[in-house]
Amino acid sequence: MDEFERHGIAVVEGRDAAARALRSPELTSDPGAGSPSVLLRDGEGHTRVRGVLREIIGRLEPFPDSVRAEIEAAVGALGTSFDLVGDFARPVAGLVTAAVLGVPLDDVFLEHLERTTANLDVFGGVDRAAQASAFRLSVQLSRAPAEPGSGLAALRAAHAEGRLDDDELAINPVVLAHAAYENSLNFLASAGLTLASEAETRGVRELAAEICPARYVLRFGSEGPVAISLADGLPFGLGRHACPGSGVALAEAEIALRALSEVLSGGCRVEDVRWKTHPVFRGLASARVVVSV
Ligand code: HEM
Repeated sequence: MDEFERHGIAVVEGRDAAARALRSPELTSDPGAGSPSVLLRDGEGHTRVRGVLREIIGRLEPFPDSVRAEIEAAVGALGTSFDLVGDFARPVAGLVTAAVLGVPLDDVFLEHLERTTANLDVFGGVDRAAQASAFRLSVQLSRAPAEPGSGLAALRAAHAEGRLDDDELAINPVVLAHAAYENSLNFLASAGLTLASEAETRGVRELAAEICPARYVLRFGSEGPVAISLADGLPFGLGRHACPGSGVALAEAEIALRALSEVLSGGCRVEDVRWKTHPVFRGLASARVVVSV
């Protein structure tokens, strides 16, 4: 892949080679900057932080009826002309992200979350604007009131119990919000486009593998960085960092796409399809759906 090769990054492609690389003890997710983010470390620290996040995500399994009803209401209220990203995928992914943390998230929060894409390495990364967005959200979440029983309250309780240190508590609420939001946003919009443009229907698992919104994950070995392609049937990754939210992601997509198919049941046309250009995260920038009346 040009984008990576230009930066001297080796690429691993094909399902078997990717699976081996994802499970290899020789390759680490830690770029060496001492990041407290669950995504950018390995070893004891990773296992401990991941355990806390997994407990929080587990509160949405099985998927809560109240969030299901909110998704169905939001999608059911779409008019006869709407944007698949702004009007469909964004509200759905936003509702689920808010449910994961247990705090309401407004559009400004979601806009900053989208700007942080792939730049949550606020301790070692180089994209200053994206880091500023991540810091802003980190400060905002650190000040947000946490309802008892919410994901945010659980993160703070884990800190009080010594399971998370100060830096881990500062950044991982944003990492969790971003993980829950960005790939779901891209998946929902692309799957919505498939639904609106193709007669043939398929299940959400199949769609996730086909769309594969996170095209690559980055690892570091003795020879330097390695980009591992997930495009050959590994949309949720594999190994130590495999997506702990895949069950939530599939449940949310199932509900949202079923509601969307009802909105589109009388037929529709799609206009102005535009794609984002990010080398790792594949997603629609916008696509207008006009429902037949
Ligand atoms: C279609 C939607 C989604 C896709 C395609 C996706 C994909 C992925 C992938 C490929 C990884 C592995 C990253 C790596 O190996 O470096 C990952 C990690 C992660 N995902 Fe997801 N994800 C989705 C939705 C979600 C949701 C809804 C949540 C939370 C409810 C979530 C939470 C996480 C977390 C916390 C991690 C970090 C795990 C770790 O580093 O140990 N994801 N996701």
